[in-house]
Amino acid sequence: MKERYISDFRVSEDITTYLLVKNIAIKVGSNRKAYLDLLLGDCTGEINGKKWDIADEEAAGLQRITPGCVIKVRALVTEWNGMKQLRISRIRMTGAEDAIDMSDYVKAAPEDPQSMYNYIWERAEGFADRDLRCLCTEVLSQRKDKLMYYPAAQKNHHAEMAGLLYHVKRMLMTAERVCEVYTNLDRELLMAGVILHDMEKIDEIESNELGVSPGYSFEGKMLGHLVLGVREIEKTAEKLGIPREKTVMLEHMMLSHHYEPEFGSPKKPLFPEAEMLHYLDMIDAKMYDMQEVLEQTEPGKFSEKVWTLNNRTLYRREEKDND
Ligand SMILES: [Fe+2]
Ligand SMILES: [Fe+2]
Repeated sequence: MKERYISDFRVSEDITTYLLVKNIAIKVGSNRKAYLDLLLGDCTGEINGKKWDIADEEAAGLQRITPGCVIKVRALVTEWNGMKQLRISRIRMTGAEDAIDMSDYVKAAPEDPQSMYNYIWERAEGFADRDLRCLCTEVLSQRKDKLMYYPAAQKNHHAEMAGLLYHVKRMLMTAERVCEVYTNLDRELLMAGVILHDMEKIDEIESNELGVSPGYSFEGKMLGHLVLGVREIEKTAEKLGIPREKTVMLEHMMLSHHYEPEFGSPKKPLFPEAEMLHYLDMIDAKMYDMQEVLEQTEPGKFSEKVWTLNNRTLYRREEKDND
C-alpha cells in the first residue's frame, strides 16, 4: 500500500514510501565518492533523489534497479535550487509481498487513449485533400500501437502515458477554433501539421508500455524528432505519390515548429500555417506545465521555481467563492 504521494511531501520531513524509478545513474561526486542519482515518480509528480557515498558492494546490488521498477525508500525531503529533493538513507527493491498497484505510480493522460486516437483519426479521415488524408491516416495507423501509451516527453510537458495523443488532440481542438478566426489559414494543412509534428517522438525517445521513458534513443540523440519527422514524411510521401510542393511544406512545418535554432529548428516558419503550428504547440505545452505546477501549489501561495517556464514562480489564486 502506498502511504505517501510526491505532491504532498514537505521540506524537512522524513518519509518512507514506494516510488517508481524513472531514471537511475551512479555518478561520482566532487569528493570522488560514488552516489546514486535517481529520478523518481508517482501518479502525482516527479522528484529527484540522491543517495550519497555508496560503497562498492552496495553499487553492485543497485545495478538491479532499473527504470520501471518500484522501490521502497526512506528519505529526508530537502530543497535544492528551489526544488524538492530526497536525501535517501535506505532503498530496497520490491516484490510480490509489497502488493504494488501500478496505477499509483503511472501518470496517465486524463482521457481514454482509444477515444483520443479516434478523435484524431476522424479528423484525418475527414480531410477533403486526398494527399493529406492518405498521409495522415497512413502515419496514424502505422503508429497506432505505440500511440496508445507513448508520452510526449521524457520529462516536463506531457511526460505521461498517452501524453503524445493528448498533446496532439488538444492542439487539433485549438487549431479548429483558430481557423474560424484566421480564415486565411488552410485548415487541413494546419491540422495535418499538428498530427505529424511530434509523431517521430516515438523514435526519438524510448518508452515502456506505462509511458515511462528511460531516455533518448540513438537516433533521437543524433537527429531528434524534427529531422526524423522530415525523413518520415519524405519516405511516406514518395510512397503515396504526394506532390512535391505539399511534401516540402509539411517537411518545413516539421523543421520549423520549435522556431529557434537553440531548440532544434534550423528554419523559422515561412508561411502562416507553419507559424501557427508553432504557437499551437507552445500554447498546449505552457498550459500543461502551468496546470501541473498549480495543482501542486496551495491556494493563495506561489509555486516553486519552474524551470520550463523560465524559472517563474506561479501564483495560485484563492479558491473562488461560488455564491
Ligand atoms: Fe516538437
Ligand atoms: Fe509538440
